[in-house]
Amino acid sequence: MEETLFLKKDMYDQIENYDFSGLKKALSMEREDIARQVKESGLKGRGGAGFPTGLKWELALKEKSDKKYVICNGDEGEPGTFKDRFLLEYNPVKVLEGIMIAAYAIGADEGYCYIRGEYHRPVRIFKRIIEKAYDKGILGKNIFGSGFSFDLHLVKGAGAYVCGDETSLLNSIEGKRGSSRIKPPYPVSKGLFGKPTVVNNVETLTAAAEIITNGPEVYSRMGTEGSRGTKLVCLSGDVQKPGVYEIEFGRMTLKEIITEFGGGIRENRKLKFVVPGGISTAVLTADEIDIPYTYEDLEKAGTSLGSGAIIVVAEGHNLVSLLNNVSRFFMDETCGTCFPCREGNRQVHHILKSNSERFSERDVRIISDLGRTIHLAARCGLGQTSLNFINSVFDKFGNELMERKEITGG
Ligand SMILES: Cc1cc2nc3c(=O)[nH]c(=O)nc-3n(C[C@H](O)[C@H](O)[C@H](O)COP(=O)(O)O)c2cc1C
Ligand code: SF4
Repeated sequence: MEETLFLKKDMYDQIENYDFSGLKKALSMEREDIARQVKESGLKGRGGAGFPTGLKWELALKEKSDKKYVICNGDEGEPGTFKDRFLLEYNPVKVLEGIMIAAYAIGADEGYCYIRGEYHRPVRIFKRIIEKAYDKGILGKNIFGSGFSFDLHLVKGAGAYVCGDETSLLNSIEGKRGSSRIKPPYPVSKGLFGKPTVVNNVETLTAAAEIITNGPEVYSRMGTEGSRGTKLVCLSGDVQKPGVYEIEFGRMTLKEIITEFGGGIRENRKLKFVVPGGISTAVLTADEIDIPYTYEDLEKAGTSLGSGAIIVVAEGHNLVSLLNNVSRFFMDETCGTCFPCREGNRQVHHILKSNSERFSERDVRIISDLGRTIHLAARCGLGQTSLNFINSVFDKFGNELMERKEITGG
C-alpha cells in the first residue's frame, strides 16, 4: 500500500486494533432483539427521509426469502453534505461493523457499499478495509465462529444525484440506468435483484453499531422525544469554521451551531439565510434560526433537517444567481422518468435564467405552479423537493426579487 500525504497508513490499519465488540455482541443475540434494541434507541435514518431504522430492520427480518441484501448508501450527493465522507475516511471500521450488524440482524449474507464516485479517498480506504477484513476472516464464511457468513462488495457511483435515492441505487447496482422505481413494493420486501433489501445511510449504520455496542439506552438518553441521539452536521458557506460537527439533538439552536461551532459569519457580514438540510430544503431567514436543532423543530418552522447539510449564506450574494445554480442542479439531475419533473425543472431554470434582471408576478406564479405540479406527480424525493429552496427564497425574499423589477425596469 502506498502512503501519500493524505493517505496515512494507519487509516487502513485501524482494523488491526479494532475489537468488533458490537458485532460480536450482535452475533450472540437473537435477530429480533437487535432490531428491537435499534427501535428502542429511537434511531431514525440519517440519509434524509428519517425512517425509523429498527422498524426497517424488523420488516426486512420478517420477510421470508432464500436471499437478502444490505446496502450501505454512501452516495452522498446532496450539495453541502460531506459527513459520510468523513465517516468513511476516519471511522471506516465502524461503518463496516454497522453494515455487518445490519446484515446479521435481517438475515442477509451479502451486501454492497455504494460510494460516490468522486470520493476517491474514501473508496480507496474502504476497499482496503474490505480486503483486510477478508484477510483476517472478519468477512467471509463463519465469522468469529458464529456460523454467520457475509460477503461485502464495494460499488462506485458514477456521479448521478438521483442514484442516492434507494431505488435508483438498486437499479445502478444491478447495472441498469439509475432511475427511481415505483414504490410499493419497498426495498425491504422487493429490493436488489428482487430480494428483500435494507438500504441504510453510512451515518445510520455507524450509529447502529454504537447502539448495539453500548446499549440502546445510552443513545436514547440523548436528544429529545422526537429526535434521539446525535447527528453529524456539515457546516458550510459563509462561516468562519466550516466542517463536520457532532450535535446532540435539542442541545443547541441552529443559531448556536452557526455561532459556536461555525465561529459566526465570515468577515463580520450579516446573515441572509440558512439552508438547514441541503438544497432540497426550504431556507430559514436570520430571524427564524433561533430554534432547537431537532427534526420536529425544523419541521415546525416549515423546513426539514434533510441530510444535515447546514449552508450559511451571508448578505452580499446575488440571489438570482443562487436560484439559477440550484435550478440548474435539479434540471441536470432529474432522471427524466416523470414528465413534470423532467420538463418542469427545465422550465423553472429557463424562467430564472432568462429573467436574470427581474421577475414579474407572473414568473413567480408559474414557478410556484410548476413546483406544485412537480411535487404532486413526482415518483421520488428529487421531484418532490426540487422546488423547496427556490419557492422558499421567493416566499421570504419575494419583495427584494420583485423590487429588482421596479428598480431596474424603469
Ligand atoms: C434524490 C435522492 C437522493 C438521495 N441521496 C441519498 C444519499 O446520497 N445518501 C443517502 O443515504 N440517502 C439518500 N437518499 C435517501 C435514500 O433514498 C434512502 O431513504 C436512505 O438511503 C435510507 O437510509 P436511512 O434510512 O439510513 O436514511 C436520497 C433520496 C433521494 C430521493
Ligand atoms: S421525480 Fe424526477 S428524479 Fe424522481 S423518478 Fe420522477 S423524473 Fe426521476
